[in-house]
Amino acid sequence: MDTLTPVLSANWGDEGAWKLENYERRGGYQALRKAITMSPDDIVAEVKASNLRGRGGAGFPTGMKWGFLPKDNPNPTYLVVNADESEPGTCKDIPLMLASPHTLVEGVIISAMATKAVYAFIYVRGEVLHVVRRLQQAVREAYAAGYIGKDILGSGRDLEVVVHAGAGAYICGEETALLDSLEGRRGQPRLRPPFPAVAGLYASPTVVNNVESIASVPAIITNGQAWFNAMGTEKSKGHVLYSLSGHVKTPGQFEAPLGTTLRQLIDLGGGIREGHQLKFFTPGGSSTQILTAASADLPLDYESMAGAGSLLGTRALQIFDETTSVVRTTLRWVEFYKHESCGKCTPCREGTWWLVQTLRNLEAGHGSEGDVEKLLDVCENIGGRSFCALADGAVACVTSAIKEFREEFEAGYKTPAWELFPYGKSALFAPAAKVGTDEKEGAHA
Ligand SMILES: Cc1cc2nc3c(=O)[nH]c(=O)nc-3n(C[C@H](O)[C@H](O)[C@H](O)COP(=O)(O)O)c2cc1C
Ligand code: SF4
Repeated sequence: MDTLTPVLSANWGDEGAWKLENYERRGGYQALRKAITMSPDDIVAEVKASNLRGRGGAGFPTGMKWGFLPKDNPNPTYLVVNADESEPGTCKDIPLMLASPHTLVEGVIISAMATKAVYAFIYVRGEVLHVVRRLQQAVREAYAAGYIGKDILGSGRDLEVVVHAGAGAYICGEETALLDSLEGRRGQPRLRPPFPAVAGLYASPTVVNNVESIASVPAIITNGQAWFNAMGTEKSKGHVLYSLSGHVKTPGQFEAPLGTTLRQLIDLGGGIREGHQLKFFTPGGSSTQILTAASADLPLDYESMAGAGSLLGTRALQIFDETTSVVRTTLRWVEFYKHESCGKCTPCREGTWWLVQTLRNLEAGHGSEGDVEKLLDVCENIGGRSFCALADGAVACVTSAIKEFREEFEAGYKTPAWELFPYGKSALFAPAAKVGTDEKEGAHA
């Protein structure tokens, strides 16, 4: 099946794809040479016309975001690349930066020209040290080649690029918490307005974009907006990186147009593991409502996912077969959100703690009648009542899992989840399977 459209991932299999000479051999930095001949407004117009939507989760149109920058602000404009990728299941920016950091660096330079930014920051999560080093090396190479620095390729335009390693907190992927962290403060979301476009980094006009959004810009400049618009569905255009994980034979990143279906992607991933069937999946990471096999033929685009009661998010398809306890997966996700809650507001800080306690009881078969209603009530008091979208993501998996599999949660009033779904059966790796032989021990492993 020929559903793949490798653009960002086209060179990932090349020997030494991350080196400048290899990137250039494939036409790398030709988009920059073209962009230099264009005015900033023309670059913005091309990206706007391409209908590129932010790949960081919310899907906001990238060209429109750039257009929000004030024209008359005396402060410098900053471009910030959000490379903090930490959502459970999301694994696209990190492989991209590892395999082909110059795709991002070239995108940064062109995007900085478009937004007239003379400083760009790449905020990368610090735990992925190998990625940090690849990026630093790519930036060094680009400086040496005259692509970054003073008077880029004789164009009269300047740009400084800084690679900044965060300390590893999911909340620092939220764009305003990221800006606080970049300024050296504890990463916690800021009150909006003012939005970053008006008062972002150092209270100056700032554009924050995801790695994949920025890395998509060079190919749009090279091939033109019509080429990009030819891929995808009516309102969701272009190619994207889907990350497949879980119970598929060949997990990994698959680059295909928006609107590809889960079933097509599962086929690309070699199918669900032998002898098993799809039970449920996340379309866009653990912050998006789970869907069941009934949605496997829906186009994975913004509109269809919203229509199905979920979100496209970061197109992180976590796939679970019928051996999986939905109570257990929900607990694992909520434990993550509880741990990553920054603590700034009470519904999220306290509510995620309560969700974990209740789900732990249900997993152990120690629940009480009414616990499912209690979970839904707590979710109601977290979602939409907290300061940032982390909290909405934290409850999405709980409410959608109860909607689809309520009886599994109610079974937790009497029966441990590991009795209904012996964990060894859903484990993917041998050591985990061994842990699963002592089901109870495996429960909190
Ligand atoms: C808790 C939380 C974590 C987030 N983590 C990331 C992240 O790791 N990477 C990212 O690009 N966007 C992340 N976002 C979304 C950003 O706030 C922002 O919308 C995005 O960087 C904008 O880029 P885009 O328009 O190119 O998609 C996160 C949002 C929230 C609420
Ligand atoms: S919703 Fe959670 S993560 Fe967001 S500001 Fe409040 S406590 Fe922090």
